[in-house]
Amino acid sequence: MGQTNLAKGTQSGRHITFKMIQAANSEIYQGHLVLINRENPIQQSISSGSLLPLSSIPAIHTLRDGMLLEQNCLRQLTKLLEASDGINDIVAVSGYRTKQEQERIYQSTLAERGAEYTACYVALPDRSEHQTGLAIDVGKLSKDVDFIAPAFPDTEVYKAFKQLAASFGFIQRYKEGKEAITQISCEPWHFRYVGYPHADIMERNDWCLEEYIDTLKSHTYNNGHLLFEDDRTFVEIYYVAAEAGAYTTIPLVLCHRSHLSGNNRDGFIVTAYWDKSRRAHV
Ligand code: DAL
Ligand code: ZN
Repeated sequence: MGQTNLAKGTQSGRHITFKMIQAANSEIYQGHLVLINRENPIQQSISSGSLLPLSSIPAIHTLRDGMLLEQNCLRQLTKLLEASDGINDIVAVSGYRTKQEQERIYQSTLAERGAEYTACYVALPDRSEHQTGLAIDVGKLSKDVDFIAPAFPDTEVYKAFKQLAASFGFIQRYKEGKEAITQISCEPWHFRYVGYPHADIMERNDWCLEEYIDTLKSHTYNNGHLLFEDDRTFVEIYYVAAEAGAYTTIPLVLCHRSHLSGNNRDGFIVTAYWDKSRRAHV
């Protein structure tokens, strides 16, 4: 991304300063907010440098050796396990999967549990969030953990994990009542890292990721940013449609820190943060 020039403008009646940045259109397929489902397959593999082994956090129980997760996702998962006091009772069952692993899981589930079950609980290769490194299946630590559908009760530390998940940037990706949209049955064990405050906004509005990505399309740079505020931060979120060609010029409001993610469909989502503890202007 390269900075070009500074400019002044109005947004929702307020005067704001912004700069223009350029993003390669290939970045539409990267970032914490990529929507992966049946209609929106993975377009770009995660770089191996962005993946970290779960063994780098020895306190986390893992079902198998060699598990990997995207680095921010693992960092936040560790904090969530600690905050929910679940580190001794929750096992990480499945994290990053290659396309070949997803293919193997799909075929073996089909053979062992049938087509109907597989359609409910296993995504087709290239349609699984696990290939992004941003999804983690968690289960109740026990002798017999089901790899495809691990038990994750709605009590004790498991409930605390679920309740605190959004504040660490995680959503329960496949909820009851959203099956017609996600095309996956309710999975209490599958958490997806989307970052904060996106997870919190989705939780408060009962939006699944498909609904959130659709909603954001109406919050363009010139048409009302999605606003969020908590004790420490003001956040503005807006969508920028990809331009034809190799690059898109993105107006970035001047803020304390920002994050750019593709939506894996047609554009970018800008998240701009202002820390209340710092001076109001930048
Ligand atoms: N269990 C989820 C849908 C997956 O296979 O990615
Ligand atoms: Zn999963």
